[in-house]
Amino acid sequence: MLEVAKVTKNDIVYDLGCGDGRIVVTAAKKFGCKAYGFDVDPKRIKESLDNVKKNRVEQLVTIKQQDIFTLDLSKASVVTLYLLPSLNVKLIPQLKKLKPGSRIVSHDFDMAGVEPDEGFPITMKSNGIEHMIYRWTAPIKVKKEE
Ligand SMILES: C[S@@+](CC[C@H](N)C(=O)[O-])C[C@H]1O[C@@H](n2cnc3c(N)ncnc32)[C@H](O)[C@@H]1O
Repeated sequence: MLEVAKVTKNDIVYDLGCGDGRIVVTAAKKFGCKAYGFDVDPKRIKESLDNVKKNRVEQLVTIKQQDIFTLDLSKASVVTLYLLPSLNVKLIPQLKKLKPGSRIVSHDFDMAGVEPDEGFPITMKSNGIEHMIYRWTAPIKVKKEE
């Protein structure tokens, strides 16, 4: 996902629903950029904080327990999503406010009503299972209802 977003060290990555923090930790370790992970679940927050500590990326990664629908995304240049399709759609009003050129990448799920730049399958090396990856670039273009 981070490669599809063409992340560089100058990016600021927001993972909305960060789970165990694997995306924000990878962003910091592999690309050297700042990354913020948000989750509502205290267990996931603890896992993320442990992951950050284990990988010694405290200087670059911030983990916050917060409902993603209350977030101001104006500082993000890359947003990563692995959420249910209905949640992707619910995020549209916030994603519309991203700076031009910011990238949104979603694992497995599209965003109804917003045409991606691209959407393609990838096969996991570990188990051969196929997953979809979608990418959008801000400003996102929301299709008018017919
Ligand atoms: C499928 S996991 C994705 C984890 C991580 N982004 C990844 O790709 O490995 C989805 C996460 O979203 C979190 N989540 C769901 N709704 C949320 C909300 N409204 N605010 C914050 N986190 C939320 C869940 O607690 C869960 O940890």
